[in-house]
Amino acid sequence: MSGILDGKRILVAGVTMDSSIGFAAAKYAQEQGATVLISNFGRALGITRRIAKRLPSEPPVLELDVTDDEHLAGLADQVREHLGEGAGLDGVVHSIAYGNPETLLGGKFLTGPWPDVAQALQVSAYSLMSLTQACRPLMGPGASVVGLTFDATVAWPAYDWMGVAKAGLESTSRYLARNLGEEGIRVNLVSAGPLRTLAAKAIPGFSDLEDMWTTRAPLGWDNADHEPTAKAICALLSDLFPATTGEIVHVDGGFHATGA
Ligand SMILES: NC(=O)c1ccc[n+]([C@@H]2O[C@H](COP(=O)([O-])OP(=O)(O)OC[C@H]3O[C@@H](n4cnc5c(N)ncnc54)[C@H](O)[C@@H]3O)[C@@H](O)[C@H]2O)c1
Repeated sequence: MSGILDGKRILVAGVTMDSSIGFAAAKYAQEQGATVLISNFGRALGITRRIAKRLPSEPPVLELDVTDDEHLAGLADQVREHLGEGAGLDGVVHSIAYGNPETLLGGKFLTGPWPDVAQALQVSAYSLMSLTQACRPLMGPGASVVGLTFDATVAWPAYDWMGVAKAGLESTSRYLARNLGEEGIRVNLVSAGPLRTLAAKAIPGFSDLEDMWTTRAPLGWDNADHEPTAKAICALLSDLFPATTGEIVHVDGGFHATGA
């Protein structure tokens, strides 16, 4: 059976648990014929190595802290080690975010300290540029970068500084699209509704957002079903969107289109 990612080589950065959106993306990408590598950082790396075995085919696990310049500088070599000299990447998934839940989220907007805000912006927004740049020597025309946002056009309860970081991510994605278009590299985001993941559960008050989705999303919303999001990520990685870049595709049951 042929898949939409047959023959493509894809790096999914940001897989910790099997509840991670990155895990669902890696799984669907493999089911669609891709060769997948996954990455994570720090102490979570051990968990990622165990979780990798739950994918249809166990992928190589790379170490990548997106705030570590040495990791970024060595990433292309790490990828080549696994894919073979001369091999490139057809796709990169950025599924990474962090904001200190104790100081930045859950109603802490007015007191968020700058060092924590700076960390949130670096890990969650700036890193889309640094990860893309690190992978750029491996990418050519037709390659696709996909990141994950949570609609940053409005202010949400509880999301606070992560919302600001997502606004930065959305803008970063547009500037990357603008800068990399002439190399034939596409850069797009998927704006997902609330999904039960480690990152989401760490946000105090996240259940309020989940409740809003349950009652308002025209198509309904299942916060335990990552597959619609994974499918959109893979569609954007595939050749099915050859003239789309700088775009944000909502996978939110239609919530963003409703007023109340
Ligand atoms: N869960 C949701 O409701 C939801 C909704 C919309 C968008 N998103 C976004 O989806 C993406 C994936 O998050 P998730 O919900 O799957 O949670 P997750 O916790 O499973 O994934 C986040 C990943 O980021 C990694 N990470 C954090 N700091 C890092 C660093 N310095 N270097 C490298 N990796 C680092 C973590 O180790 C983890 O693997 C994030 O961008 C998140 O904001 C999530």
